[in-house]
Amino acid sequence: MKGIILAGGTGSRLFPITIAVSKQLLPVYDKPMIYYPLSVLMLAGIKDILFITTPHDQESFKKLLGDGSHIGCNFEYEIQDEPNGLAEAFIIGEKFIGKDKVALVLGDNIFYGNEFGKLLRSKTDVKGASIFAYPVKDPQRYGVVEFDKNKKAISIEEKPDRPKSQYAVPGLYFYDNKVIEYAKKVRPSARGEKEISSLNKIYLEKGELEVGVMTRGMTWFDTGTVESLDDASEFIRVLQNRQSTMIGNIEEVAFQRNMIELEDLKKSSERYGKSKYGQYLKEIASMGLSK
Ligand code: TTP
Repeated sequence: MKGIILAGGTGSRLFPITIAVSKQLLPVYDKPMIYYPLSVLMLAGIKDILFITTPHDQESFKKLLGDGSHIGCNFEYEIQDEPNGLAEAFIIGEKFIGKDKVALVLGDNIFYGNEFGKLLRSKTDVKGASIFAYPVKDPQRYGVVEFDKNKKAISIEEKPDRPKSQYAVPGLYFYDNKVIEYAKKVRPSARGEKEISSLNKIYLEKGELEVGVMTRGMTWFDTGTVESLDDASEFIRVLQNRQSTMIGNIEEVAFQRNMIELEDLKKSSERYGKSKYGQYLKEIASMGLSK
């Protein structure tokens, strides 16, 4: 399975912070936001990853992440000229995806939870499409799934004025290869975007959409507003300091998943100098195991 991280967009809800800097490069506590969704794909066991960015931000992402070989991955980069919507990722990424299945994660989404890695790895052999639903207070900001009595998904609506349920669709999606063909069929919505909800609706109508409800054990943030960005930073700060482990440490994930050797981990840690992030990696390397 291939992976795509969508890290373009305008970030207008964070202006003036994101006028000169990509949202996905902003700090969420102690690391760039993009580390979190990247670690999610790596936890799923995905090594071939495409970053889709705006034309002017691509260089910064390349500077931060390189070709991925230092963490046992293969990174590629593509540009989205205009924020034409999430479903465009599969058209931009057509060549990269080739004949494979693909996971998409939004660059501003953060996930954390017990046994999350296992859950992710169970999705990589998806037939049709597999997405999640997560109960939130403000579903009108998201794609919303409605379920019948048997917890079967019966409708999906993008940012509805009157949501039919509390269940928002988080920015993490698994698709079979038909996603390329279906994405091409999606017409732009009233706001001019190729909506991922329209794509998911195609799978739903064909009876090929699986929707897994994320329960209380899972935490999901999107960091698109000042409030939610601040909440996410606070959450990561509290959890990391309490448990003295790290969330979204990509070198740790690479080591834990046997994507790199101890020597590579030691070398990577040098890059981060005296920062807490670097110290943490050195600690893991000296123990020879992940926390
Ligand atoms: P959004 O938060 O919906 O959009 P945005 O990032 O442009 O922010 P704002 O609404 O404040 O202007 O995007 C969700 C994620 O998807 C985010 O990581 C940016 C990314 N994205 C793209 O890469 N391309 C797109 O066309 C869109 C709409 C979003």
